[in-house]
Amino acid sequence: MTSAEIRNTFLEFFTSKQHQIVPSAPMVIKNDPTLMFTNAGMNQFKDIFLGNSPMQYSRIADSQKCLRVSGKHNDLEEVGRDTYHHTMFEMLGNWSFGDYFKKEAIAWAWEYLTDVLKINPELLYVTVFGGDESDGLGIDQEAYDFWKAIVPEDKIIYGSKKDNFWEMGDTGPCGPCSEIHIDLRDDAEKKEIAGRDLVNEDHPEVIEIWNLVFIEFNRMASGKLVSLPAKHVDTGMGFERLTRVIQHKKSNYDTDVFMPLINEIARLSNVAYGKSEETDIAIRVIADHLRAVAFAIADGQLPSNAKAGYVIRRILRRAVRYAFTFLNVEEPLVSQLVSVLVKQMGDFYPELKSQADLIQKVIREEELSFLRTLHQGIQKFENYVAKLDGNKTISGDFAFELYDTFGFPIDLTSLMASEKNLEVDINGFNKQLEAQKNRSRQAAAKDLDDWVVVHESGDEESVFSGYDSLSEDIRILRYRRVKTKKAEHFQLVFDRTPFYAESGGQVGDRGWISYGDERIAIIDTQKENNLSVHIVSKLPADPAVTFKAEVDAYKRLMTTNNHSATHLMHAALKEVLGDHVEQKGSLVNEEYLRFDFSHFAKMTAEEIRKVEHIVNRRIRKNIAIDEKRDIPMDEAIEMGATALFGEKYGDRVRVIAFDPEFSLELCGGTHVPATGQLGSFRIISEGAIAAGIRRIEAITADKAEAYMDEQVDTVQNVKTLFKNQKDIVKAVQQLIDQNSILQKETERLHKEKALAVKDDLIKAKEQINGFDFIGSKIDGDAQAAKDLAFAIKGKLKNFLLVFGYESNGKAGLTIMVSENLSKEKGLNAGQLIREAAKEIKGGGGGQPHFASAGGKDPNGIEAAIAKVKELAEKA
Ligand code: SER
Repeated sequence: MTSAEIRNTFLEFFTSKQHQIVPSAPMVIKNDPTLMFTNAGMNQFKDIFLGNSPMQYSRIADSQKCLRVSGKHNDLEEVGRDTYHHTMFEMLGNWSFGDYFKKEAIAWAWEYLTDVLKINPELLYVTVFGGDESDGLGIDQEAYDFWKAIVPEDKIIYGSKKDNFWEMGDTGPCGPCSEIHIDLRDDAEKKEIAGRDLVNEDHPEVIEIWNLVFIEFNRMASGKLVSLPAKHVDTGMGFERLTRVIQHKKSNYDTDVFMPLINEIARLSNVAYGKSEETDIAIRVIADHLRAVAFAIADGQLPSNAKAGYVIRRILRRAVRYAFTFLNVEEPLVSQLVSVLVKQMGDFYPELKSQADLIQKVIREEELSFLRTLHQGIQKFENYVAKLDGNKTISGDFAFELYDTFGFPIDLTSLMASEKNLEVDINGFNKQLEAQKNRSRQAAAKDLDDWVVVHESGDEESVFSGYDSLSEDIRILRYRRVKTKKAEHFQLVFDRTPFYAESGGQVGDRGWISYGDERIAIIDTQKENNLSVHIVSKLPADPAVTFKAEVDAYKRLMTTNNHSATHLMHAALKEVLGDHVEQKGSLVNEEYLRFDFSHFAKMTAEEIRKVEHIVNRRIRKNIAIDEKRDIPMDEAIEMGATALFGEKYGDRVRVIAFDPEFSLELCGGTHVPATGQLGSFRIISEGAIAAGIRRIEAITADKAEAYMDEQVDTVQNVKTLFKNQKDIVKAVQQLIDQNSILQKETERLHKEKALAVKDDLIKAKEQINGFDFIGSKIDGDAQAAKDLAFAIKGKLKNFLLVFGYESNGKAGLTIMVSENLSKEKGLNAGQLIREAAKEIKGGGGGQPHFASAGGKDPNGIEAAIAKVKELAEKA
């Protein structure tokens, strides 16, 4: 079976067990402060497990894109070195939400592996949770008994909390698990050591393939386990590992999931796969990392300098670095693999296909820029080594500088060092790294207390009423304290709320809750998974009463305008630039809207104007909103809703149209009842933010009006200055032309005049200590003084001259000393000018023969010249 066929059998099997098949959620997570990337199939269902979200189906199955590169589940360092770890991988999973539990989960897993895929049961081992004292949990006897009915008891192994109690992160849904392992060694090896002794021992051929988690608890921030109201099943099977088993390969990388990529890397780099362990690791790393980066970009996460974007950037750089160091490839290689990946996986993951161009371009730009940095870093390294002077150690500080400024991983620096028989002070490096981590940890650290329950939540929890009303009677269900280094605030969860929580680019609402005389400001509203969290800086005196909640109406109104304008503009951009325009980021607040989208060239003034016109015409048409709340996803797609990529899977969605033929989008944001409310729309900037990504900023309503007023006022003021001439542009151009002619003329006259005084000055020279001294105030500026000084230099031999001048209300000094004079008398122009500049309340400097200074006080010019003379006399 091909990998695609294997994936299908899984989904078909669980369809036959009444499971609903859903698409993979995005790999990049937007609304969860505890998680940057999807690290398991269950992430998208976290809220259902916790009881924060209703479920649509009680049984679901899918294949989920996962990325394990940070936090609790991080496989980055393993990748490439072994044959079965990946950063990005697919996880096949089936779920029960309060429906079936251990018995069916175990029986079906077994049926699928041994009946459908015909895996020899002899090869399989299973584990069950052996209990944990610190959590007060006993062994999972139930699971044991269900397994006993299927497999001989010597195939069942008890496991510790580390292997057999699954947790998503530090907090969240969790529970005991039962894993299925497979022993792929040959018979001779099996005779030496029994498979059961190698389970969970990191043996490359005795590996876990499926994990069945029985979710029963929520791990609180305090570390306590709290039982969930219902019991759930979460299973996850590594798709690449399963494929390896079915295709009888020794390594995941030898399957048809990776081989097309590996062959292409070998072809492009001219390094055959299988040639050496070192180059093989590099090839595997590149194949793996390309997948992670490509899928992340398809999900809307571009490489950048912060958070998730930075993680992606580092993964990509790691791939470039392996290609550079081990395959000797100094040109972009990773981006050349995108087309192979798209061919291979684009059918099941259409987001890859539709954005192939963008993915390729973004990766290529990143590669080019990192390759430049690599070259610079290597140069820097060479310079450093040249200065080592017999010393054999590269300091930790320097290694850290390479790491921090040039993105050099420490193993690269160590490798380069060992090639020169040098060592790196790794301890010193680690110290710096730790210090840096501490700095950012401290800056970002958030201390979350556990929730304090005020009212039990009944059916209602965070019901959003803010599409229809801006005020509401609410009750606080629970609150918690959040402490950061700088401040302390509280998060409140209401039963119902008119406050829009930041999401989909639209900022959170502000406003107030009040009871009697007490009025507390809601500073912001944020979304955590499906919960709306209201931020306040202090708690109400009695959190248990019913409050009146009111949204700041003006802020909301302006924000809403900008959100609707974003939709209109998105449609207009597609019309003007083409269908490749795809939203890549959006910010909507009360001031303006910011919209990032894929497009490969700078927009011309004409295109910008066109977009503005289209939007403004739609505004004038006063198109009424066509809103469909809570409709099935399929229906939305049939209606022609814009691509869902980057949206989270959810069965019921909201569709916003302003003339369905023109603009129709899936959107949770707030929108105007009719477009006329926007009044007017203006684009105020357009530029690039990354390869293939443009950013527009635009304004509406009051802000657009104020902006236009300002523009008109400016023109009006200019017209007045020009005595209301008819063709104002021509008048300005004439002035500019005239001005440049006059400027040249002035310069010429200055020069002439200055040179004319040359002879007078030479005549007026004095004798001091046997040399010529000229000290004078002149007309002109620093340039004139310099010209004059150099003109005189040609006429005199043994001299010191000082010029003072006033220009633009400021004072200036210039000193020149002939060479022999500075040698014989130790007169130094630079030193003299420092003394003299004090008289004009300024400072300056220069060479021993020529120096200049500027100062605030033109009244001191005479004194400054006198000072130089005095110093010259003393010399
Ligand atoms: N959540 C479990 C895992 O990731 C099973 O899906 O292993």
